[in-house]
Amino acid sequence: MEKAGKVKARDSFTTGFGVLAATLGSAVGLGNIWKFPALAGLNGGAAFIIIYLLSTLMAGLPVMIAEIMLGRRSRSDALTTFRVLHPQRESWGLIGAVGILSAFLILAFYTEVAGWVFAYVFKSAAGSVLSTDPKVTSAAFEKLVSDPVQSIFWQCSVIVFVGGIIVLGVNKGIEKTTKRLMPVLFLILVMIGVRSLMLPGAAAGLSFLFHPDFSKVTGAVVMTAMGLAFFKLSVGMGTMITYGSYFRDDQNIPLTALRVMLADLTVSILAGIAIFPAVFTYGFKPEAGPALLFITIPAVFSQMPFGNIFVVLFFVLGAIAATGAMLSIMEVPVAYLHQRFAFSRFKATAMTVVLLILIGSTAALSNSLLAGFKIFGMTMFDLYDFLTSNLLLPLGGLFLCLFAGWVWGESKVRAALSNDGSLANRFIVTIFLFLVKFVAPVTIVVILLRGLKII
Ligand code: TRP
Repeated sequence: MEKAGKVKARDSFTTGFGVLAATLGSAVGLGNIWKFPALAGLNGGAAFIIIYLLSTLMAGLPVMIAEIMLGRRSRSDALTTFRVLHPQRESWGLIGAVGILSAFLILAFYTEVAGWVFAYVFKSAAGSVLSTDPKVTSAAFEKLVSDPVQSIFWQCSVIVFVGGIIVLGVNKGIEKTTKRLMPVLFLILVMIGVRSLMLPGAAAGLSFLFHPDFSKVTGAVVMTAMGLAFFKLSVGMGTMITYGSYFRDDQNIPLTALRVMLADLTVSILAGIAIFPAVFTYGFKPEAGPALLFITIPAVFSQMPFGNIFVVLFFVLGAIAATGAMLSIMEVPVAYLHQRFAFSRFKATAMTVVLLILIGSTAALSNSLLAGFKIFGMTMFDLYDFLTSNLLLPLGGLFLCLFAGWVWGESKVRAALSNDGSLANRFIVTIFLFLVKFVAPVTIVVILLRGLKII
């Protein structure tokens, strides 16, 4: 508690490695193992990956740098940052307000998928979801998602688990957890990747992953690829503003962002390398979509020697990845409630958890009780995913670029990104300014308009 005359230091990340682990922990998540391989499989393999990469360089990465920069300067949550940096016009705070809303919408479906992953850690260890017959693994998955009690149970468990880490604080909760988990994640991923590459179908799997098929690319596919670029780097809704507010003053922001982007990409590619060779070896289709993770993987891995061990490892990997990502999303509303209303961390987290369980249940039940309830032809689960990834994140990113590049202004950006002159990165900052002022906004607007068939 704060005493008069004594200001308590803000809870923050403490070491350079801690900053990197937490930020990478946020980026790496279900996006790498659930979305990336499935979307690449559905939309032309390497063709999709190329567009995703271009979107990352032209829009995702600049937005990431901008968010971290603004958060570190304001030392505030996603909404208050805009009020602190530009008090003249309160409406910029809308970016943060929509961001906090997005945090709940993303978590609503994300915690559900994470719930399945956690469930599969236990179920695959017990052997109950394993079979070489995809009909059996498909029925097992169907049984889980269409059971309202199980769906809600696993989602709530995950939410409470993540809330339990959040309560411990930025340093003792988030930083400590991600510092321990990230190395384990890489280790497991490399083990599975190596195992997969030893399979006879490795060449076919790799050529699928690296051979572009542009015939599948439409405006909607490009929009999806850009949405994935934002989703992957956790940008467009204030996660990186919030984490940036915990960054050290001497941290090199552009370099950290670049490293996180490259490491995250490596994880996605490794996940592809772990999955596709196995899929081809046992004669499955790569276009399985989201079902890839829960239906195809158990069936595929069950066919290879020691596969049962690797399936469990695979879902442990998923659980670890999802945890770091969920921590970073949940921290957005918690940091806001904590700072804006001076609620204790416990109270802020408790409120977030309760609200999230309510909103999340509409996603959890969208394969059972609410399966018939659709808006624009989408279940709540699909709607939250589409709305956030494809629309809210790019729009948030667009306004963030306009704010950083045009409103906050060049001289402040230069000072902030060079750590007030102590880094010799003038050239890099110049490139950043060009991207953030012109390239990213134009890219986002054009892709959105085309994706929505407006132009
Ligand atoms: N990047 C994470 C993943 O790929 C998800 C995530 C974490 C996220 N924080 C976010 C997505 C903020 C959008 C916004 O799984």
